[in-house]
Amino acid sequence: MKKKYFNKDFPTLLHGADYNPEQWVDTKEIWDEDMRLMKLASVNEASVGIFSWSVLEPRENEYHFEIFDEILDKIYNNGGRVILATPSGARPVWMAKKYPEVLRTNERGEKMLYGGRHNHCLTSPYYRKKVREMNTRLSERYGKHPAVIGWHISNEYSGECFCPLCQDAFHKFLAKKYGDIDKLNFEWWNTFWSHRFNSFEEIDAPSPLGDTYSALYLDWQRFVTEQTASFIKNEVEAVRTHSTLPVTANFMQHYTQLNYWAMEQELDAVSWDSYPDWHHDAANDLPHTAADIAFVHDTYRAMKQKPFLLMESTPSLVNWNEYNKLKRPGMHKLASIQAVAHGADSVQYFQWRKSRGSLEKFHGAVIDHNPTENTRVFRDVAEVGSFLRKIDGCAGTMPKVEVALIFDTENEWALSKAQAFCRSNKKYYDTCFKFYFALWQRGIAVDIIDANRPIDGYKMVVAPMLYMVKEETISKLESYVKNGGTLVSTYITGMVNENDLCYLNGFPANELGNVFGLVSEEVDTLFPEDSNFIAYKGEEYPVHDYCERIHPKDGAEVLAYYAKDFYAGEPALVKNKYGKGEAYYFAARDDGELSDKIISELAESLSLSVDFENLPYGVTSHSRECDGEKYIFVENYNVFPVTVKNNREMLDLETGATVKGDIELDKYGVRVFLVKK
Ligand code: GLA
Ligand code: ZN
Repeated sequence: MKKKYFNKDFPTLLHGADYNPEQWVDTKEIWDEDMRLMKLASVNEASVGIFSWSVLEPRENEYHFEIFDEILDKIYNNGGRVILATPSGARPVWMAKKYPEVLRTNERGEKMLYGGRHNHCLTSPYYRKKVREMNTRLSERYGKHPAVIGWHISNEYSGECFCPLCQDAFHKFLAKKYGDIDKLNFEWWNTFWSHRFNSFEEIDAPSPLGDTYSALYLDWQRFVTEQTASFIKNEVEAVRTHSTLPVTANFMQHYTQLNYWAMEQELDAVSWDSYPDWHHDAANDLPHTAADIAFVHDTYRAMKQKPFLLMESTPSLVNWNEYNKLKRPGMHKLASIQAVAHGADSVQYFQWRKSRGSLEKFHGAVIDHNPTENTRVFRDVAEVGSFLRKIDGCAGTMPKVEVALIFDTENEWALSKAQAFCRSNKKYYDTCFKFYFALWQRGIAVDIIDANRPIDGYKMVVAPMLYMVKEETISKLESYVKNGGTLVSTYITGMVNENDLCYLNGFPANELGNVFGLVSEEVDTLFPEDSNFIAYKGEEYPVHDYCERIHPKDGAEVLAYYAKDFYAGEPALVKNKYGKGEAYYFAARDDGELSDKIISELAESLSLSVDFENLPYGVTSHSRECDGEKYIFVENYNVFPVTVKNNREMLDLETGATVKGDIELDKYGVRVFLVKK
């Protein structure tokens, strides 16, 4: 297997930050000081140009590239590299005033004023044309500049626009999808409440002033995703006019308003911006916070099946929370190396230097307003920089993954709008996370994927609450199990098709009923204060929220029963052999203990690979490998030291010492070992 680098001409882990030298153009001595400090912190990369439009084109068709010319040369001459951004994330005011079509309209039909960022209409032909022109110029000027190793397209694409241009594009999207308005009327079940349309043009985008029902909402969300993807494509084609450099865009943590899985095809690499609340102790214990972030890392690595970039993280604190707590000593290194453990080929920050004014002047940065290297934060960053150099060999390598967990964005949309179950919060992510946590704390590698991705090669697939499931997905899951796979699912699975029409003839739909060996009769949604219990191997486990009443089919094995209420004695957990494989169905939502137990039993029976047995609570381990070299990462998310049992001979990459026996980890400790096979 070959190493998969972001840019094979710079085959190394990146350590860098968003860098805005254009804010300091009147005090250029600061640029030179930046170069000195970057070297001191082993920073080898800067993301330049994000939000620079008003500097690059201060007035219509008046272009200024001098600042960029100078800074790119300077960075390169100091040994650094640049990921160059396109400026479309915030457009200049002259444009909004002269061409108001670039401004967004909100869901109530109000035209927005100029302001903020991430605020352009996705459809505006003028904005698309200007972005294309700007990006083409950047490509022409810098596409072969030796400093530039890749493109950063815009910034955190997000949001939607409800202007007439977008409504019109939505009608075209629907006409293309359904062809005939009566087909749409059928798929959206519009005879209900007399909602039948006579033409696509009569349809309004979802709005609190009109309709928000699920079929309309689902297609609107798909439309917004498609518009965003085509906006990205327009940007990418332009940067490719004079450049072959790889292209990335920064995604966000747990952002499901856009379906990133339907956008990533436009990019060469995925990157993301990570801002966990590490120390909100009352809300979450640290291992759960760590696993929550690991879930996102595993998503973006799985999306491209190659290393991703950590595009932003804060070296200290953010400024946009209600309470902005500092990262405690040790956490910066642990959080940064965690990303690498899960497949990041970079540790990058927002931001290199605090801006002097405006909204983000108190957001964490490597360099503070008192611009010295003698700060805790700078020392933390420099420590990460030198550590990255020691583990640099892992760049381009990937983990060996045997388990996939399906967390599907369109399913999340459908569940969020389903007027049923617990209406406002179905806890889809929480349910997926519970299974993920059981895997994470055993050090079992997981790919988080959407339902359209291939699953053939995995030993186990976990697909909780797959409420909305296409016929193709049903066939895929069916043949996966038939051919020997192990599938784990839960209540509220296989109920509606991709347009939110219920499947007829029993849930889980179609052949899934035979795969799981059951028919579901009804779902009992409990009040938050309610609970039931289910009995498994002589122990009782509490369950909350959902208790589905199911009827196993012939041959299915009932593993657990309800202990209370009118369905006491009925099945609550079923295992079914189907073809060469097996399927497990949790009919009720447990508190984590039972699912953890089942996952542990499955890990053993399927011999899922781990680097260490019996990891202490809050400790995990992940690895990356290539060509007989394996990098093993061990992380301690406890506030006390721990010992991890080990009997393998490994090289500690930080100290250079060979380790044979047990491994000691400090509070928040992280260690990286190399094993040669
Ligand atoms: C986002 C943006 C950055 C910055 C940071 C602050 O990730 O991309 O420009 O605003 O948030 O945390
Ligand atoms: Zn619009």
